[in-house]
Amino acid sequence: NKAQAWSARFNEPVDELVQRYTASIGFDQRFALVDIAGSLAHARMLADKQIIHTQDLADIERGMAQIQAEIESGQFEWQLALEDVHLNIEARLTELVGDAGKRLHTGRSRNDQVATDLRLWLRGSVDDIAGTLKTLRIALLNLAEKHAGTIMPGHTHLQVAQPITFGHHLMAYYEMFSRDNSRLSDLRARFNYLPLGAAALAGTTYPIDREQVARALGFDGLCHNSLDAVSDRDFAIEFCAFSAILMMHVSRLSEELVLWLSPRFGFIDLPDRFCTGSSIMPQKKNPDVPELARGKTGRVYGDLMSLLTLMKSQPLAYNKDNQEDKEPLFDAVDTVQDTLRIFADMIPHIDVKADVMKAAAEEGFATATDLADYLVKKGLAFRDAHEAVAHAVKACVGRNCMLTDLSLAELRFACGLDSRPEMMGDDVFALLTVEGSVESRQHVGGTAPAQVLAAITRARSAL
Ligand code: ARG
Repeated sequence: NKAQAWSARFNEPVDELVQRYTASIGFDQRFALVDIAGSLAHARMLADKQIIHTQDLADIERGMAQIQAEIESGQFEWQLALEDVHLNIEARLTELVGDAGKRLHTGRSRNDQVATDLRLWLRGSVDDIAGTLKTLRIALLNLAEKHAGTIMPGHTHLQVAQPITFGHHLMAYYEMFSRDNSRLSDLRARFNYLPLGAAALAGTTYPIDREQVARALGFDGLCHNSLDAVSDRDFAIEFCAFSAILMMHVSRLSEELVLWLSPRFGFIDLPDRFCTGSSIMPQKKNPDVPELARGKTGRVYGDLMSLLTLMKSQPLAYNKDNQEDKEPLFDAVDTVQDTLRIFADMIPHIDVKADVMKAAAEEGFATATDLADYLVKKGLAFRDAHEAVAHAVKACVGRNCMLTDLSLAELRFACGLDSRPEMMGDDVFALLTVEGSVESRQHVGGTAPAQVLAAITRARSAL
C-alpha cells in the first residue's frame, strides 16, 4: 500500500471507508490518455522554460510512453490507495524514472490538471458525437428524399389534421437535429480554452508559458482567470443541456415510431434485429429501441440536474464536490453516443407502408381546409368558408361518407351554396384528394413534394 503523495502531513493512515469514499479511480481512468497528453505538454513547456532539465523531460517522455503502453494493453495496475487517475499515473512514472517523475508536478495542481483533462476528454467526445449526429442527419435526408411524395396524415391533438408527406415529416426532425448540432459546435467553441497554469487556484510562481501548452493541446486560447479555470464546470452543464434537448427530440421521434409500429397504425415496420420479443406472448415484436431511447431521455435530464445542483452552492474555487461531475457527464456522453449510433443504423431500414399511410390520410376529412381555401379563392371570406365546409363535414358524418363521395350538387348543397353555383366547379374534386392537398402547399416550408425536395437540397449543401 503506497503512501499518498500528500501523506507526510498526516499522523495516521486514511480510514479505509474514507479512502473508498473519496477515490475516483473507479471512473476517472477514462481520462488516462488525455491525462498523459496534458502531462507531456506541461513537461515540454517546463523544459523549454528551463524549469526542469532536458534530461528530466526525456525521462518523463520515456516513462509516459511505457505507461501508455501498459494502459492500452490493460496491464497497468490501478490502485485505489492512489485515489485518482492523476496520482496513479504520477506514482507509476516516479517508479519507472525516479526523480524526473517527482518534478512533473512542478507549477501544477490536480485542480488545473483535472479541469484540463475534462476539457480534452469532452472535446474528443463532442467531435465523435458530432460525427454520429451527422450520420443520423444524412440517414434522415436519404429517407426523406425517398418519401418526398409519400402521403401520410399529419396530426394535431393526435387526430388526423391535414395530409402531409412522410418526407416532410422526417425533415422536421432533420431541422431539430441540425439545431442540436449547432448547439454542440457552439458549446465546443466556448470551452476549448486551457485551464492549466491556474495551478491550485491562484496561478504559479514559475515562469510558465501557457500559450505553448495551449497550442500543443489544440486549445483555442487560455482560461483568463485562475479561479474560474479550476472551479467552473459550466461547459459540462452545457453539454448535458445539449444532450437533454437532443434526447428530447430523439424521444419525440421514438414516441412516433412506437405509434407507427403499433398494428393500430401500421405505418412502418422495423427489421427484427432492432426489436425484441415477449417471453410470454409469442406474437409480439416489441419496439424496444425507441422505447428505451424515450426512457433514457429521463436519465439524461437527470444528468443535467445533477450537474446544475452540484455547482450551485460551491464557493470559489475548487471543491471536492467537483469530483462528482464525472459520472453524470460520462453517462450523458455514453447515452447520447449509443442512442445516436443505433438511430443512425436503424433509420435507413425503416420499412414504410405507403398504402397504409395514404389510406389513413384519406380518413378524417383531412382535406376540409383545402375546400375552405378553395371557397376563399372564389370570393368567400375565410370565416364563412370555414362554416360552409363545417356544414358539409357534418352532413358527411351523418351519412358516414367522405367529402369526395358527394356529387358536385350534393357538395354545393351541403355547403349551403346551392343558390351560388358559380362558387364551386368540378375542379374542386382534384384538390379534395390528398395528392392535390399536399401539391398545393407550394412555398418554402410547405409539404408539397417539390418543396420537400428543395428543403433536402438546401440541407445537403449546408451539411
Ligand atoms: N479527483 C479529483 C477530481 O476529480 C482531482 C482533483 C483533486 N484535487 C484536490 N484538491 N483534491 O476533481
